Parts: sequence; structure tokens; C-alpha cells
Amino acid sequence: MVSRVIPVESFDLVIFGATGDLARRKILPGLFRRFCAGQMPAEAQIVGAARSEMDDTGFRDLVREAIEEFGGGTPREPGQVDAFLERVAYEAVDAKGDSGWEALRGRLRDENVRAFYFSVGPGLFGDLAERLRKFGLASPESRIVVEKPFGHDLESARALNRELAQYFDETQIYRIDHYLGKETVQNLMAVRFGNVLFEPLWNAQFVDHIQITVAETVGVGGRGGYYDESGAMRDMVQNHLMQLLCLIAMEPPARFEPDAVRDEKLKVIRALDPVEPHHIVRGQYDADDKQPGYRAHVENPRSRTESFVALRAAISNWRWAGTPFYLRTGKMLRGRTSEIVVTFKDAPHSIFGAEAGRHRNVLVIRLQPNEGMTLDVTIKEPGPGGMRLLDVPLDMTFADALGPDGAEMPDAYERLIMDVIRGNQTLFMRGDEVEAAWAWTDPIIDGWERRGEVPKPYDPGSSGPEDALMLMHRDGRRWRDIKA
Ligand code: BG6
Repeated sequence: MVSRVIPVESFDLVIFGATGDLARRKILPGLFRRFCAGQMPAEAQIVGAARSEMDDTGFRDLVREAIEEFGGGTPREPGQVDAFLERVAYEAVDAKGDSGWEALRGRLRDENVRAFYFSVGPGLFGDLAERLRKFGLASPESRIVVEKPFGHDLESARALNRELAQYFDETQIYRIDHYLGKETVQNLMAVRFGNVLFEPLWNAQFVDHIQITVAETVGVGGRGGYYDESGAMRDMVQNHLMQLLCLIAMEPPARFEPDAVRDEKLKVIRALDPVEPHHIVRGQYDADDKQPGYRAHVENPRSRTESFVALRAAISNWRWAGTPFYLRTGKMLRGRTSEIVVTFKDAPHSIFGAEAGRHRNVLVIRLQPNEGMTLDVTIKEPGPGGMRLLDVPLDMTFADALGPDGAEMPDAYERLIMDVIRGNQTLFMRGDEVEAAWAWTDPIIDGWERRGEVPKPYDPGSSGPEDALMLMHRDGRRWRDIKA
């Protein structure tokens, strides 16, 4: 399969927080891969900006290290790292003061598309936006890219939206949810709306329930400070799982265009019912003989922050009334799996009688790892002895179907940054979407706090607390196993 590289306009990309973790792990190595793929026009440049005093050479050394550590193998041609580094520069700026801004403006080229990536905490978004205007860095076409967390709750998200709106139009603001940049997440839309097979069945009449699982094997590690203020609900459910839910549940947009897609996602979020307290389980991982538990990673030894959430959501609209959506995410679980499971209802009548047993079609969409889909289809068990039925998976692992090159998945950040340069907001969250997601999340978190709820402990390497299993068992259903 030949990979297609769509040219982009020449650009100046300024990364604020350029010495931080995200820039080092994702943004800079991602840009390097795009450069190697021939997607960085000759006049394009990347300017790192942060508080530390450093010259271009010092920053280039950091970028070289980042590429070596996180760049995914050596470049395909010798000299490519050096050629890339020639496009990289650095300016020290004070996000809350006036120093460095004039010099940064001097680096920018009038003819280039301008994008400013705020790879910093949300506390600095307003300061940066203000200074981009004040010092004349923002042209009418400029874009800003902001990272999650976008607020801590509805009120703070609204305040951030208002603050940014003073300086930039909504069409210039790119709110990143990196899940939307994942190839397989975009594939959800291709599968649903590119095939005639699924959409007629994609509703409460035929779908018994849907499960969305994002399980991680890692703990909170060195991010305890941030994480303990967030918890799984704010860190994962409000954004990543919510986005997956939207793509699975939304109506077909008329076109694959920014507002058409985002309007449909917003309708899903607004149609979500409030979650009943008995439809949600929080968990926190314990220690085991190999590693310390959650509380050892955070400052508060009595922390009540959850590292696991499982919940049952309901969407009150014509398509989905009566079909539960079970969402689950957690750290330190048995395996690293992100998957969506669509379980269809029983056939309306079994002509084979009760002894043939119960059989259901199940569509599993694996987002990571081992990207692909399987569809369980009921067939006759081979051999004599009557009509016994058996469910077999039709397996489409993308690596098998497309070959190793075709199944190569670019990192989410590569795709998203190039979309910023192209000016395509389809895979970015609109302000009203983020607010609607917080409006649904806030009462859940407030309820925990009001009731003084303590998360249920679970063992590292397990599937989460027992209560999460019960959440489905009570409904006569079960989670698909998290594979080790
Ligand atoms: C981030 C969360 O947004 O997503 C992390 O802050 C989480 O806690 C990560 O580990 C998961 O992303 P991925 O791409 O590894 O599934």
C-alpha cells in the first residue's frame, strides 16, 4: 500500500511549553516523523518557547534527544535529523510578563500559516492568548492549540472559553483530545458511515448494549500531583470515553465537516441522562507484593481520588432509548486494551429450538493494541448429531488485512498537528461540546463528594473492583474480559 502525503501550506509552529513532557514525548517526535514523510514544506519552521533561557543550539540538542528516545527508530535516510533540526529554533518567553515576545515575533514569517501550541497548564492559556494579541503575533489566520485538561469542571471550562474568546474566534481554537487523532477512532466513523451493513441495525431495536473499555496497565507513576486532582472521571471519562461514546452513538452527519460532525456529537452529550449513583463504581488500586498502591504515588495518604470508573450511561433519544452504554476505564488493570463492543439482540425467534442455546452477534472494535474488528457470527457446529449452533469470529485484524505497511498507525499527534496547519477542525472539540461534557460529569463528581464516597480498592492486574462486575451482572450481562 502506498502512503499518501497530502501537502500542507508552509507554517510557523510555535510550541509553548517546548521543554515539557508532552512536547518531548509526542509533539516534537511527531513533527519529525511528518518531516521524514515529506510533509514539512521548505519554508516551514518550528519555534520552541518556554521560560528557560536557551539558544537555538541548546534546544536542538533537546529535540535530538527527544527524537532518539521517542521518535520510533532511526530515520530512514542519513542526515534527516540534522536537516530537521535546521528548521527548529528557540525563544525564551515569559508567559506572564513582557520579556521575549518581541524577539519571538521577529522569528515569524508573514507568508506562513501561524499556529501556537499551548502545551502548558490551563492556568496559562489566558496569559498566552493575551500576549499573542498584545505583541502583535496573532495574525487573522492564526490558530491556537490547547491541550487537556480543558477546565476542571463546567464553571472553569466556561471561564476558559470566555477568556480565549476575548482574543480568538472559535474557528481559530483547536481543543485537542488526542483520542480523536487515533486512526482507529476515526475508523469508527468509516465503519459506521462507509458501510451499508451496520447502520440499519445501529439502534435500540437491534442493539442490546454497548461496552466501551479503555484499560491501562500503568499506574499514575510520576503524574500523581496532577492525577490526584483529577481522577479517572476527569482524566479519561469526561473527554476520551465521551468522545468514543459520541462517535458510536451519533446520527450520521450530512458531511464529514467540522460543524456537521461536532453538532451531532453535541446532540449525543446533551441527550445523556444523569447517572444514578447505583450505576457507577469508582475504584482505587491497592498495593501488591510487587508495587506500591495508588496512595503511595500521591501526596495525600488518605486520597479518595479514583483510578478506575465503571458506569452505565443512557441516551434518551429515539435511536438509543433502552440501550445501555457501559463505560469503564482504569489504571493498573490486567491488560492494555481499548475496545468497543456492540452486542446485538437475540434473533426474534429461534427456529432451532431451545436446545440450540442462546447466540448473539457481537461486533468488537479494537482501538489498541492489535487494531481491528471481529464480528461473532452464529454457524452450525460441523459434524453429525443435529443442529448445534456455534459462534465464530470473523476476524479482521488490520495488520493482516492491509499488510504491515498499510497498518502502520501514525501517532495521534501527527495527524492532529497537520490538521491544525490545514485549518481543519473536524477532529477537535468545540467549546460548547466541552461544556456539555462537563455539565454531565459535574453532578457525578459532586455526588461523590457530597456523599463522602470512598473508592473501592482493587488489586493491580485485576479487572477492577468486584462492584464493577456486579454493575453488569445485575442487568444479566457481563463485561468482555480484559486480556492480559
Ligand atoms: C491521557 C491521560 O489523556 O491519556 C492519561 O491523561 C492516559 O492518564 C492517556 O494514560 C491514555 O492515552 P493512550 O493514547 O495511551 O491510550
